[in-house]
Amino acid sequence: MSVLLLEGRPAIVTGAAGGIGRGHVLHLAAAGALVVVNDINGNDAEKLVAEIIGAGGRAIVSTHNIGTRVGAEALVQTCIENFGSVRILVNNAGNLRDRTLLKMSDEDFESVLTVHVKGTFWCTQAAARAMVSHGQGGVIINTTSGAHFGNFGQTAYSAAKGAIASMTYTWALELARHGIRVNAIGPLGSTAMSSTARDAEGNRAPEFDALRNGPAVVYLCCDEAAAVTGQIFGTGGERLSHMVQPHYGKTLVMQGGWDLEAIRQYFPQHLPGQFGAFSMSGKPYPFRDGVFPPQSDQE
Ligand SMILES: NC(=O)c1ccc[n+]([C@@H]2O[C@H](COP(=O)([O-])OP(=O)(O)OC[C@H]3O[C@@H](n4cnc5c(N)ncnc54)[C@H](O)[C@@H]3O)[C@@H](O)[C@H]2O)c1
Repeated sequence: MSVLLLEGRPAIVTGAAGGIGRGHVLHLAAAGALVVVNDINGNDAEKLVAEIIGAGGRAIVSTHNIGTRVGAEALVQTCIENFGSVRILVNNAGNLRDRTLLKMSDEDFESVLTVHVKGTFWCTQAAARAMVSHGQGGVIINTTSGAHFGNFGQTAYSAAKGAIASMTYTWALELARHGIRVNAIGPLGSTAMSSTARDAEGNRAPEFDALRNGPAVVYLCCDEAAAVTGQIFGTGGERLSHMVQPHYGKTLVMQGGWDLEAIRQYFPQHLPGQFGAFSMSGKPYPFRDGVFPPQSDQE
């Protein structure tokens, strides 16, 4: 028997007309949430809302551009006007302008940072202010990616996803006193966005059902996850993984502080052995033999 874990809870999902967001919406609605389906792609958002209503759920469309403060605030207002409050916000909207550092333009960099970082900030600030004033607490789910560990060709995207991970940690600390939990997912899905992504060897990502991330979002939104905040989870495919928060590892201490000579003496012996899995690929650190100018003599 299905349990309506989120019955009657107003929820916003940004960038939800297709791809991974569509899966979040379908699962949230099936769990009883009242969903604002936000996307600048109004046609597909309308179709999704019709699908939910046809299945007996409640949903409305918002075509606000979350890459603007005005749009983000109007989106939250739309949820409040139609459903009375906002209890859940899933920051999912995203865009991609993959370039290596050497080829990246200001325009591409700005575009990705605006939608992901500023959009997540604007939507969360507006929703959190409303949640605080309603006094019923709430849940924020951000969307990051393993790309924030570093990924070839993704200067802007990795920066954006790293910023979102860091904001997740900070907001969890700041908002707990208001009963608001803040977590993030790093999803997997074969979507419009993933179809353009390539790894360093030019390979396409493997196929993943984009809808499969929704169950984890519902769980993180429900009261059974009351003790879960400031955490990031890899979702999608067959995995459910905890993304470990970065923290200081092996630490050497020198009385009075480190001078250059002491660093030269101790660093090579103690720290390179700590360089573990590197970048989104998770492969072992690949630069043990050194990084040298082209055609240099590697002594
Ligand atoms: N696909 C993956 O494997 C994968 C992996 C890691 C993270 N992600 C993240 O998951 C999220 C969803 O990605 P997806 O793969 O479903 O991509 P997608 O391109 O299918 O969906 C993104 C949606 O966001 C909408 N959007 C873009 N800018 C917007 C704006 N300013 N206002 C409102 N809507 C806007 C788009 O119209 C689109 O429908 C993104 O944050 C992405 O970075 C995806």
